[in-house]
Amino acid sequence: MKVFIKTYGCQMNVRDSEALAGMLTRSGAELTASEADADVMIFNTCSVRDQAERKAIGKITFMKKYKKLNPELIIGVIGCMAQNRGQELLDKISHLDFALGTGQLHRLTEVVEKIRRHRQQIALLEDSSEVLDAMGMHSNWQNSRPHTGMIAITRGCNRFCSYCIVPYVRGREISRKLSDIVDEAKMLAEQGVREVMLLGQNVAAYGCNGNINPPPANESPFGELLQEIARIDGIKRIRYTSPYPTFFTDKLIDIIASEPKICRNVHLPMQSGSDRILRSMNRQYTAASYLEIVNKLKNAIGEVTFSTDVIVGFPGETDEDFICTKNLMNEVGFDHAFIFKYSPRSGAKSAEWIDDVPQEVKEERNQILLKDLERRSIAGNLSCVGRTLEVMVDGVSPRNPERWSGRTSTARTVVFKYADGMKPGDLINVPIDRAGRVTLFGPGLVGADEEL
Ligand code: 5AD
Ligand code: SF4
Repeated sequence: MKVFIKTYGCQMNVRDSEALAGMLTRSGAELTASEADADVMIFNTCSVRDQAERKAIGKITFMKKYKKLNPELIIGVIGCMAQNRGQELLDKISHLDFALGTGQLHRLTEVVEKIRRHRQQIALLEDSSEVLDAMGMHSNWQNSRPHTGMIAITRGCNRFCSYCIVPYVRGREISRKLSDIVDEAKMLAEQGVREVMLLGQNVAAYGCNGNINPPPANESPFGELLQEIARIDGIKRIRYTSPYPTFFTDKLIDIIASEPKICRNVHLPMQSGSDRILRSMNRQYTAASYLEIVNKLKNAIGEVTFSTDVIVGFPGETDEDFICTKNLMNEVGFDHAFIFKYSPRSGAKSAEWIDDVPQEVKEERNQILLKDLERRSIAGNLSCVGRTLEVMVDGVSPRNPERWSGRTSTARTVVFKYADGMKPGDLINVPIDRAGRVTLFGPGLVGADEEL
């Protein structure tokens, strides 16, 4: 049985697909990158923005042509959109065979078997925490950087930001057992993984029992988890995404500052720089308290880069509100950000409000922030020229086999010349000769102007 998996959305979905790929191959299935070859097609979907849903629905609809050629083909939708609209999709798309919600992914092989035996449409959409334990195993199948591995440490979200559908499609926040996570990290290290990425909707709330308030300043169960993973010899770098800003307690900041394996790049979702909009988004910080967390991190760690998520055109966002966002982004000095144009998500609180910022204004605000980002990114990259930076080798550049690339702890991409014996996952020191818009260049790359 050949299985084709297509993944949309966030890194959590990528990780879920990997775990499913592992589960399928262990049960004897083969994975294929070709739609035409597949006996089973699985679409792991995202619901966070309207665009993501439309893209996946378009693709699934188009797959009817394969079903016509091969009536035995099984097509399923899983993940957030399946959770949100599974039954509706099965009703509307007659060639769709199953919908598995985010709490039911571990039942994939069982469902496929059932459909093979008695052709029928199946929807499994109940929430279940069993999935958390069942999803521990990896295959690193889709991973183009096999020396890195993703580990889900929490599932779900309790925060209910007014624009966001995640709490409704991923269920309540649960943390995995610390020993299970550490065992998984050890197993990955034994398989050659050198960098782990810890994943969750709010990773920094790990071990906080679903409490929406951060722990006291001198506590951080997430920090303790980071320390445990840092003790594993083979693991050289630890990344994590995404942390809710208020969970950066003093304790967590101290732990990050004192453990060099924890990467010097913090993805800190800001969403807006206007206190009025932050309040209506139900984000529990102000622009000033957000900046205070950033400054504490900068003071404690020294060299650190920040990236963020920002929404433009939230209901009621005025020019003044937008300027506050622009200014706060400048003040923090983000050199990377995901900027999203607000889209109402049915089920989330803000969908009840008028989506009153015109599309052109959203686009204009988006462009303004992108321009600022580009300027800061170039300046940040230029500040690295003349320094020697530690880089984890990712592998050969797709455009030129003599050139290799890797990343710094601060998440900058570096291109350098291959040297004998170099392999993915190695930590090497690269003198930086030149900086482009998104890439730093090591020595001897004359005429190497393309960016990765
Ligand atoms: N509209 C636009 N962006 C959204 N995000 C979440 N919900 C919406 C929405 N309704 C963005 C947030 C979040 C990221 C994953 O997606 O910035 O951090
Ligand atoms: Fe959505 Fe807010 Fe939870 Fe992030 S913290 S997943 S934005 S509800």
